[in-house]
Amino acid sequence: MTLVVLAVALVGSACSSTDGEPGAQGLDDSFYPNMGNGGYDVLHYEIDLDIDPAANTIQALATVTSRATQDLSAFNLDLSGLTVAEVQVNGSDAEFSRSGTELVIEPASSLASDTEFSTSVSYSGSPEPVVDPGVPFGLGWHHSEDTIYTVSEPSGSMSWFPSNNHPTDKATFEIRITVPATSTAASNGVLVEEISANGYTTTTWRMDDPMASYLAAVYVGDFERIETRQPGSPLIRDYVPRNSPAEIVEALSITPQAISYFEDLLGPYPFDAYGTIVLPLELGFALENQTLSVHGRYTIDPMIIAHEIIHQWLGNSSTLDDWSETWLHEGFATYLSIMYMSEHHEWDLNEQTDEWHEYLTADGSIPPMEIENSEMFDVSVYLRGALTLHALRGLVGETVFSDILRTHYEQSANSNTNTAEFLAVVTQLAGAAAAELVESWLYDDPMPPL
Ligand code: TRP
Ligand code: ZN
Repeated sequence: MTLVVLAVALVGSACSSTDGEPGAQGLDDSFYPNMGNGGYDVLHYEIDLDIDPAANTIQALATVTSRATQDLSAFNLDLSGLTVAEVQVNGSDAEFSRSGTELVIEPASSLASDTEFSTSVSYSGSPEPVVDPGVPFGLGWHHSEDTIYTVSEPSGSMSWFPSNNHPTDKATFEIRITVPATSTAASNGVLVEEISANGYTTTTWRMDDPMASYLAAVYVGDFERIETRQPGSPLIRDYVPRNSPAEIVEALSITPQAISYFEDLLGPYPFDAYGTIVLPLELGFALENQTLSVHGRYTIDPMIIAHEIIHQWLGNSSTLDDWSETWLHEGFATYLSIMYMSEHHEWDLNEQTDEWHEYLTADGSIPPMEIENSEMFDVSVYLRGALTLHALRGLVGETVFSDILRTHYEQSANSNTNTAEFLAVVTQLAGAAAAELVESWLYDDPMPPL
């Protein structure tokens, strides 16, 4: 009798412990409350993409390995557009439905908190850029003049793979791309395998360090790969349009010097490789995809090249935890890039900061921590963010300023951070008055004098 009661009790508790609840459909980001999903933490993405560059279509399989952070009866991935054919969880067919950019998945049986599970999604179609209130152009997958390229910050990755699309859930990646052998494909990390057969080439790319979804990238086109190996430098592999003018390759040659300047400032380069991909397009922007920054013809310039390199430390390794704090990426990258320009390219740092201060004074500036969604990449975020660091450096001096930069980076490397944590570092190493100065630059109207 006692045994039967015990058995019933055990079965009962086993059931209730895996009954679970649906994971939240968002992570309550201040600007993007529905981006990302609750209830699980992604450990690894394996993304297989079969791309027809002429038709701009994909046939894809994404396998997402996650750990449940609660008992889950259902959970979401973020995916925009495309057609989902099948979803499996731990190898068994799962129910799924689409609602806006939420792919809602109901596994055949609930997933217990703290266990690992694998979700595979078969999907296909012609990826469409995502409309994002933070950026005045479509994000994610693009097709132009025989070139396929992605630029995803902040929300665009969901245009080409299902993910937990928020920077607080970083994971490792393996991206496998099959294209006609006449095209070259590039993605994040290290190229681990290249197989050609029957007129197609499959390349496999591995990113073994945690990466936020917005930094994942794919390029397909007529590119030439240029490798540079220098002692003490990570592997550098750039991609330029085939038969590019020599000036383009020449412009990229500052990369090892810039990396070594920022290593001295912040610590070792965080990843296994670096490179720039130059698109054969007249784009007015650049983006710091992890280990593979993308530039257009108009943005092959030493300051912009350096800016995207700095983001590998500040942005990619140390990443904001809420999209309202873009100054932590852009203000730092802007300031450190002019430090580099004044060290190696004869810029006058004080002249530059004076000029920016005058410009913002005349034009009106937004305090970087008081921005709205549409102002995430406003010029104030870049320039006033940079002036914030310049003012701090002026107050605390060179040695303490370097300590602050390095400590802020080290504390958040391979992880996430926010302004409160930065202010705590400033307070700890330079005192409350220094933190107050930083706060006035970030929050006050009008902008403080330099
Ligand atoms: N982070 C980019 C920079 O280095 C700016 C940016 C944000 C961007 N979102 C983008 C560029 C989307 C291209 C596409 O300043
Ligand atoms: Zn930037």
